[in-house]
Amino acid sequence: MALRILCLLGCLLGLGCERQEPSAEEYGNLVDGPGGVRLVESEHGEGWSQADCFLCHPRKNLHLDPPGTVASPALAGVRRLVEEEGQASCTSCHGANGVEVENGSGGGA
Ligand code: HEC
Ligand code: HEC
Repeated sequence: MALRILCLLGCLLGLGCERQEPSAEEYGNLVDGPGGVRLVESEHGEGWSQADCFLCHPRKNLHLDPPGTVASPALAGVRRLVEEEGQASCTSCHGANGVEVENGSGGGA
C-alpha cells in the first residue's frame, strides 16, 4: 500500500513509471545532434512547442555530471543559471522550442 502511494507520488512528480530512470537525465552528446544544444522538432518529440519545461524535466535532474566523470565547471555554471533564473533561462541555450510567445514576455520574437 505505502509502496503504491509512493509510486503514484513519483508519477505526479514526473519521475517516470514505465521505465527505471537513472537519477540524472542523459541523452548522449547533445552537441552532436542536428541542432546542437538548441532544440529542434525532430529531437524533442512530445516536448516540442511546450513552454513548461519543468513539467517533464525536473530541475534537480538537469545538467548533472555523468557518473564517473570529472565535475564540469561548465555544467556547474548552467546549474547556477537555472537556479537563479528558472525556466526563463532555458531558451537562452536551448532555443525557443517552437514556442511562439515566451511565458509572460508578451510578444517579440
Ligand atoms: C511533455 C514533456 C516535455 C516538455 C514539456 C519538455 N520536454 Fe524536453 N524532452 C522531453 C522528452 C521525452 C525528451 C527525450 C527526447 C526525445 O523526445 O526523444 C526531451 C529531451 C530534451 C532535451 C535533450 C534533447 C536532445 O538533443 O536529446 C533537452 C535539451 C530538452 N528536452 C529541453 C527542454 C526545454 C528547454 C523545455 C522547455 C522549453 C522542454 N524540454 C520541455 C519531454 C519534454
Ligand atoms: C547556460 C546554458 C544552458 C541553460 C540556461 C540551460 N541549459 Fe539545458 N543543457 C545545456 C547544455 C550545454 C546541455 C548538454 C549537457 C551535456 O550534454 O552534458 C544541456 C542539457 C539539457 C538536457 C538534457 C539532459 C541533461 O541534463 O544533460 C535537458 C533536459 C535540459 N538541458 C533542459 C534544460 C531546461 C529545462 C533548462 C531551463 C530550466 C535548461 N536546460 C537551461 C545548457 C543549458
